[in-house]
Parts: sequence; C-alpha cells; structure tokens
Amino acid sequence: MPNKNLMNVESHILEMQRLHPSASGDFTSLLGDIAFAAKIIAREVTRAGLVDILGSTGASNVQGETVQKLDDYANAVMLKVVGRRGQVCLMASEELADPVRVDIREGSGKYVVVFDPLDGSSNIDANVSIGTIFSIYRRRSRLAAIGDADLLQPGRDLVAAGYVVYGSSTMFVNTTGHGVHGYTLDPGIGEFLLSHENIKIPFAAGIYSVNEGNEPRWSPAVREIVRRLKYGRQESGGMSARYIGSLVADFHRDLLYGGVFLYPPTDRAPEGKLRLLYEAAPLALIAEHAGGYASDGRGPILDLVPREVHQRTPLYVGSRETVMWIEKMLGDPTFGDPAFGAGD
Ligand code: AHG
Ligand code: MN
Ligand code: MN
Repeated sequence: MPNKNLMNVESHILEMQRLHPSASGDFTSLLGDIAFAAKIIAREVTRAGLVDILGSTGASNVQGETVQKLDDYANAVMLKVVGRRGQVCLMASEELADPVRVDIREGSGKYVVVFDPLDGSSNIDANVSIGTIFSIYRRRSRLAAIGDADLLQPGRDLVAAGYVVYGSSTMFVNTTGHGVHGYTLDPGIGEFLLSHENIKIPFAAGIYSVNEGNEPRWSPAVREIVRRLKYGRQESGGMSARYIGSLVADFHRDLLYGGVFLYPPTDRAPEGKLRLLYEAAPLALIAEHAGGYASDGRGPILDLVPREVHQRTPLYVGSRETVMWIEKMLGDPTFGDPAFGAGD
C-alpha cells in the first residue's frame, strides 16, 4: 500500500475498487472527473470577490470569458466535465429544470449523476463557506429507454455520494460504500490528498444547527425539540448553536464535531426547503456510512423514492442518537402539544 499521506483521491478510490475485481474503471474515472470539476470551481470561488474588478465594465473578464453568476458557472463546469469519458448517460442539477441526456459516443453510460453545483450561494458575497453536492446512481434501463426510473431512485440505491466544501481549505468528502473519506486540496500541486480517512460522526450531538428565525413558522413539536436541544435533555445541559446557512458547511462541521442539522417544515413550506435528490439523499448516505443518521421526521431519508427531480423534504441529519430521538419525538402525536404536556 502506498504512503497514505500521499494518496490523492483517484489513487485512493482505485485502491478501494480493487475489492471489486470486475470493475471496469468507469466509476473511478467518473469520481476523478468530479474531483477535477471541483478544482475548477474552487479556483473560481477563490476569485469570487474579484469578479467585479476583473469584469466590471461588461459581461467579460480579463480572459475574455463571460462573467457568470457562480451558480451558473459551477453548473456549466459540472455539465461539461462530469462524464466526459462516456461513463454517464443522464445528469440532473438544481440549476436545470429538466434532466439532460448525455451524448455517449464511446463508453458505457453506466451511471446517472445528480448535483447541486453550488450550495449556500447566498453566502458567496460574504466570503463564507459554500459547497458542491453530488450523487451517483447506476443506470437501470436500457440506454434507449432511459427515463424516470433511472433518475428517481431512492438514496439507498446510491453507488456513491459526496460533497466539496470551499472553506478555509477546499475539501472533497465522499463515500463509495467503503467508509467516508475526506481529501484536502493542496493548492501547490492541485491535488486532493487523503487527509481524513474513515470519518465517524460522534454518536450524540454537541451542536445543533437550525435557522431559528423560522421558529414562529414551526410546528409546536419542532419548537419543543429545539427548546430541548437548547436547554438540555439530560443533566449534561444544552448544546451549542452553529448555523452557517450553507448546508454543506453546516453538515461538514456537524460530521466532524458531532452535531445535528435541522431543516424542518414551516407553515409556508410544509415540505421543508431542501431538495431530496441532490441535497438530502447524498448527505444522508454520507451520514449513515459515517455512523450517523438522516430522517425526514418519519423515517430514513434513504428510503424515500423521489417523485420528481426537485422534490423537497424536511431534513434532520447528523449524530445518530440525536436524530433518532428527534424522529421518535416527531412520531409522538402528543409531543409539543400543550394540551398533553411535553413528556418524552
Ligand atoms: P442553495 O444555495 O443550493 O440554493 O441551497 C441553500 C440552502 C442550503 O445550503 C442551506 O442549508 C439553506 O438553504 C439555508 O436556508 P435558510 O436561509 O432558509 O436558513
Ligand atoms: Mn443547496
Ligand atoms: Mn445550489
């Protein structure tokens, strides 16, 4: 085994693929393509504040490239780079109303890729961490008959999922079913190097992450859950609150430190805000493979079968014990209802 400290993302995935002697290499090269796209997006993200300076007079910057909103840019990079070697037959993105078929001249088109090209985009102008989320499914239909059955698969059927966080450093985190691993971009050599092998999320959360500005629009049960997270369920006391407003960054911190991220339904958004296919499901897969859990308040996110690409879902994800407790409380019709008292 080569020195782990000098493993880049492709070589590490290749090592893990050795467990599957029949693998064609398509999957490894696809993850390599995603990592490559992430480097291009990372470069642009770090120049975000310069866009006005470099491209102030019109629609183009000093290279003569069109200045685009970073979401559009990230989306265009993903579409162009991912699956360019024929591994992918279909892609869907938060930025596209409809999925796109990939023209496969050579290659097997074995995979379907879904992504949120830039997550947390309201934070861009404030220089706060943002991310990219991706999911990889296996094509189910014959190439000639690709359709909803290939795209609308439950998270349980994911072959791989991951995210990139553009923060104080750029990190690529993914699971291919053999643990969750993190790779940090070394800007000097332009490689993601294995830095966080086999990440495990602490069993119980010490941090809760939720937009408390929405409290007036929550159900009584959700309000009571957050109150108990804050004041303490046990004598050990309450938790710290941390909320960035970028799902990837909030999730990443909770994964490393032990925490729970909540985006509950509100009276204005009864299905919640976040999207099942390209936000909730991939992070749910990572959470479960790291020993955590993700719920929509009723059951595992990974068991939900999407009805449409942009479907929303409530999301509770992070440390297993805490998310399980939230799910249990939400399943109790008397919880949070003042008429019944708030017992658990
Ligand atoms: P996106 O930037 O991809 O549209 O996602 C934004 C999401 C997510 O990143 C974050 O957790 C959430 O919006 C924050 O929502 P609030 O501003 O309502 O808290
Ligand atoms: Mn998002
Ligand atoms: Mn987005």
